[in-house]
Order: sequence, then structure tokens, then C-alpha cells
Amino acid sequence: MKKSVLFLASIVISVLAFSQSSKDAKMHQFVNGLLTKMTLEEKLGQLNLPASSDFVTGAVSSSDIAEKVKAGKVGGVFNIRSVTKIKELQEFAVKNTRLHIPLLFGMDVIHGYRTIFPIPLGMSATWDMSLIEKSARIAASEASADGIQWTFSPMVDLTRDPRWGRTSEGNGEDAFLSSAIAKAMVHGYQGDDLSAPNTIMSCVKHYALYGAAEGGRDYNTTDMSRVSMYNNYFPPYKAAVEAGVGSVMVSFNEIDGVPASGNKWLVDDVLRKQWKFNGFVVSDYTGIPEMMNHGIGDFQTVNARALNAGVDMDMVGEGFLTTLKKSMQEGKVTLAQINKACERILIAKYELGLFDDPYRYCNEKRSAAEVFTDKNRADAREIASQSFVLLKNNNNLLPIAKGKKIALVGPLANAKENMTGTWSVGADNTQSITLLKGLTNGVGTFGKVSYAKGANLDDDLELEKRQTMFGKEIPRDGRTPEQLLQEALAVSADADVIVAALGEGAESSGESASRSNLDLPASQQKLLKALIATGKPVVLVLFNGRPLTLTWEDANVPAILDVWFAGSEAGDAIADALLGKVNPSGKLSMSFPQNVGQIPLYYNHKNTGRPLGKWFSKFQSNYIDVSNDPLYPFGYGLSYTNYEYGPVQVSSTQLKGNQKLSASVTVKNTGKFPGKEVVQLYIRDIVGTETRPVQELKGFQKIALAVGESKKIDFEITPELLKYYNGDLKYIWEAGEFEIMIGPNSRDVKKVKVNWEK
Ligand code: BGC
Repeated sequence: MKKSVLFLASIVISVLAFSQSSKDAKMHQFVNGLLTKMTLEEKLGQLNLPASSDFVTGAVSSSDIAEKVKAGKVGGVFNIRSVTKIKELQEFAVKNTRLHIPLLFGMDVIHGYRTIFPIPLGMSATWDMSLIEKSARIAASEASADGIQWTFSPMVDLTRDPRWGRTSEGNGEDAFLSSAIAKAMVHGYQGDDLSAPNTIMSCVKHYALYGAAEGGRDYNTTDMSRVSMYNNYFPPYKAAVEAGVGSVMVSFNEIDGVPASGNKWLVDDVLRKQWKFNGFVVSDYTGIPEMMNHGIGDFQTVNARALNAGVDMDMVGEGFLTTLKKSMQEGKVTLAQINKACERILIAKYELGLFDDPYRYCNEKRSAAEVFTDKNRADAREIASQSFVLLKNNNNLLPIAKGKKIALVGPLANAKENMTGTWSVGADNTQSITLLKGLTNGVGTFGKVSYAKGANLDDDLELEKRQTMFGKEIPRDGRTPEQLLQEALAVSADADVIVAALGEGAESSGESASRSNLDLPASQQKLLKALIATGKPVVLVLFNGRPLTLTWEDANVPAILDVWFAGSEAGDAIADALLGKVNPSGKLSMSFPQNVGQIPLYYNHKNTGRPLGKWFSKFQSNYIDVSNDPLYPFGYGLSYTNYEYGPVQVSSTQLKGNQKLSASVTVKNTGKFPGKEVVQLYIRDIVGTETRPVQELKGFQKIALAVGESKKIDFEITPELLKYYNGDLKYIWEAGEFEIMIGPNSRDVKKVKVNWEK
């Protein structure tokens, strides 16, 4: 019986493989046939990606798109926000160009399309891969209904520097977690069939190391060992490639002295040869001409370098279009390279089904029926509520009991345009739910919510403008700071509890939004201090696109709920958590430093020869003015209930070769609320030929526990999990002692040691 099942399975697999290879053969035949008909100019046109003037996301914008489309000089266009416009332009391209090749329509669908989910850093705090995949699935189905076939997401740039504004767009500081998220996002967008009308092609970005910009200053130089690249920064991009991502965007920064947009080692050797990526590579916005500023040549030279490196498509630069013919005549690039780049783009269009039906993603009926639906919004509300991280909750101040009088104070309390956060290109921010609305809905007739703004986002008008760009304004209140404060105190006088909605503006983080100071703005600190001075219980609801320095807040505010920028349904989701309809279960994907001087601060650091002590000790690796600890460690997040962790139990402490180790722990909900907990596994390779981090995340499970319930959680560990890239960039593991750690965050772990021989 077993044999016959296996036999049948092998027949099915062979049939599938055969039908896939005959599909591939058909595709190659089609694409090659098309290539032979194309002129050089038409091929170069396919490599050109101008930006629509609908939503400009870079320093320059493209001009005369229609003229260029007609002349066959455009391969795709991005950031058009209307199915009707996309359909019109597609029709124009198909009808007016000699070979009727459809255009590729891209967009920055980063954390939702019209229904907006939390910013990616918030999504990563869910540690819930099925929810993350679901968010990408919904984003794909909405975007594809509006004509979009390609998204510039996921962004998986690992970062250890919260000063960097784009921290908000990524998954934090850990390669293992970020790799899992990369996979979930790619699956969510692309599904199993790229040609289905409700899936879109994903583009992992920004390859590579963009998050290691020196000083956290955007676009800045990176300088890093290859060992760190391979062990820490590369894995999430590689995971996206393994998940079948259709395209890759190269980054703005240089690597070993060569900008990524022209870096042959990075694109050709690592991405294509080592990782076997066979999709297409797109530059970032004017990334190719920017290589002139980097100092590696004139316009003609840098475009040839980009093509030689393996970049196939030129975003906004227009240099592929205008320089490559001459470079070819001069022998600096070859026709074969141009053909290859063009072929990769045509294959993507073929796989998306555009040659079968250029309008398959332009369905006005679907657009009207399937975008921003009640169902999608309900999912977004649920997902948002899972991203919140409870940083502090003294005396179980939260959840707020029914019937309490709530004073809601702060510049983010009624800031509709700011709820979706940065990179919400497809959003209609007029529809977003504010906290004032959510909380008022939530308390219904049982309680009372009174509101005062209390302070402007920032007293410095210029700084406030920079944090509320792209239509994310928070209307400035013209009263003096003192008048605003007095109103807040008056509103609070009658309240049982004060909810202070404070933090960053939506554009305080994101692209070109680096900060050198990570405190709450002075205007808001002043307000918070005055609220605390009333002696009433204060809950800080923190809006932020990055870890902030909250040392004073942690010492003085009894409850802090980090809500990031939670998306279009933010207000309802936050109210769900504040009022106890949902028990917070998010965990930080990035350490929160005590002060900016500790940065870079990350949990998986090396030990040094003079290890970190708890507090200052002369001639040890520490500071004289601050401890080495983060304020909140990686993996940290509280709950309204308590979880008790039993000891770590292992199947054996002596292992050999490819044996499997099972490590388990029993977790019990000992509190009064049902809840979800992220159980985390860390491993340390104690002694080796080369040094290894003090701990590394190697597994996690998000579990639900009813009141009083216990669950035994098992992690299976094989030598695969012990592997790392050594100094010769060999992926190996070494025999010896390992520490197995399990806990609710990277700090509070329980440990056992095992010995693993070869
Ligand atoms: C950003 C990318 C984005 C692109 C297109 C660039 O400025 O770096 O992340 O996808 O613009 O909008």
C-alpha cells in the first residue's frame, strides 16, 4: 500500500514537473520570439521605469510619459493611484506601440494598499507569520483590483540603528525573524500563481545593507565585514529569493566602495550565482545617476556599470534609455547583456499574464467591490491590535475598566492623517479611525471621553512640518503652549484616568527622516510631565516609527502601550487594547536604548575580551554614565495576564552528528486574562574557532493560553540551526558546547547546556 502511494506520488510529481517545464518552454519560445522582433531602442525602452506624477517619492519626477510610451521607450510606470488611469495608459501602450507590449504597473504597496495595516516595524512586533502573510494577501488583492501588478515590498533591511528613519519600514534587528517575515510577505503577495488576477509580483529591497548607513543618516555609506553581511544582513534578502520573489531592488548605499547600483559582486556573484536568483533587478529611484555623486564616473559610465553589474531596470534615471546604445557601440556593454535584461522583464510580464490579457488587473468592478471592504478593515483592525507592545503596566492600570471617565490628551489623539504612518501611498487618510473616534466608539454609553490636544506635535514649526509632510499634517493649534496645557489640565481634572496620545508624526520616520535625538519632542514632554503631576493615573499611548529613548517615561509613567502607526483602523484597534477587548501580545523586534549614545545596541552582540558587566566596572567594556542594558530588550512585551515559564528540558545533553535535539518548556497562564505569548528560543555557541554572538534567535512560537492553561512548547534543533558563515564564508557548524535558552524575551531566558559532537 505504502509503495503504491509513493509510486503514485512520484507520477504526480513527474507530471507536474513535465507540465511546468513545457509551460517554461512555451514562455521562453514566446519571449525569445518577441525579442527577435524588437529593435535595440525598443529593448532599451523595456528597461526604463519612469515615475508617475501622481505621487512623487523621490527628488525628481519623470516627464512626457505618454510621449515616451508611444515611442516604445517605457517598460513600466509606478505609483499611479487609479484603475481607470492605469487602464487608459495600458490601452494607450498596447494600441500605440509597434509590438503592443503591455506596461508593468508598480507601486509602493508597503503595509497595505487602501486598507492600511501597521507600519512594517509594527507588523514585525506581531511575530505572527500567518497574520503577516494575510496582510500581504489583502494588500495584493486590493492593489491588483486597482491595476497594480508589482509592489516594492517587502523591505527587509536589517538595522541596529533607530536613528535611521527607515527603521519603520523594516523588521528590526534580527536576521532570523526578518527572514521568516520576508518569506511570509512574498507568499502573501505572490500566492502560488503570479498570473492570478488577485496576486502581484513582489520586489524585495533594498539590496543590500541599506540599514547599516553610518550614523543612521539616510543614504549614507556602509562599511562592514563580509562575515557580518553573510550572517546578519544578507539572510532576509536570501529568504525572499528562496521564497521565489520575482524582483529585487538594489540600494542607494555603497558596499566596499562600490554603490549597490553598480556592484557586480553584489548583484551578479552573490544574488544571481550564489543564491540562484533568476528574476529581474531594478535600481532604486535615480540610484543609477546618483553613482556620479558617489564619484565613480559620468552619466555614460555609471549606466554602463549598472548594466554590467546585473541591474536590468532603471528607475527614473532614464540613462539606460539614453546611454546604452553608445556604450554598446564603444564595446563597454554587449547586446547580449541588453537582451538578457530585456528578456528578464518580458518574462516577468509573461508570468504576470500580461501578454494573455494586458487588462487582467484593471477590473473596475473588482476595484469598486474589493477595495477597503468591511471585511478587510475588520482584518486590519485585528492585525493592528496584535502589533501593540505593552511596555509597562504598573498595578494593572490597563485595561481601563468599564464606566471610567477618560481624558484623552495629546497631538496624536485626533490626528486622522497620521494613523497610517509613513509609506501609505494608496491610502485615503480621510477614512482613518482616530483614537478619539475609536475610544468614543469603544466606551459607548458606559463611559465618557473628553479630549484636549494639550500640545502641538512640536513647538518648532519647521520641525513639525518635516514630520507631517505628504499630507500627514496635524493642523497646528495657534494657541500658546501654556493655553493648550491649561485646557488639557482642565479636561483631565474631572477624569478617572488620563490617556496621553503622544509620540512622533507619521513622517518623523520613513525615507530621509533620520533623527539625532530620539526623545519625545519637548512640547510633548512638558505636557506629559504636567499630566503626571496631577497625580492621576496616566497611560502613555505611544505613536512611533522607531525605538525611542523613553528613560524618563519608563521611570515616571505607570502604563505605556506602544502602538506604532497602526493603519487605517488604528483608533478602533487601540481602543480594543486599552479597554481590554484584546490583550496585547506584541513583542519588540528591536531593542529600545536608554539613550542615543548607546547606539548601535542590539541583543545578539559579541562578548568581547572584557565582557559587559551589569554596571560600571573599570577596564570592562562599559560606559561611565549609563549601563549597558537596553531600556527594553529585543523580544520584550508584557500582557494583561502573567505567564510562568518552567525549566528548559532537553531530550539529551550529549548529541552527535545529525541527531535532533528537542528543547521544551511549559508555559502557564497564571493571570486573569486569556492571552497570546511569543515563546522564544535562543542559542549560543559557547566556544569555537571564531567568536559567536552571546545569543541568537533560532525559533519562536506564538501560542494562545486560556486562564489557568498550560502548554508544553517544543523546539526541534538540528545542526542546521547551529550553522554560520566563518571567516572563509563557509557555512559550517563546529562541535562543542551550546547554550539553549528559552524565554519570553531575549533577557529573561532560562538556560541549559548541551554538548554536540560531530
Ligand atoms: C525608495 C524606495 C521606493 C522607491 C519608489 C525610493 O526613494 O528608496 O523604497 O520603493 O523610491 O517609490
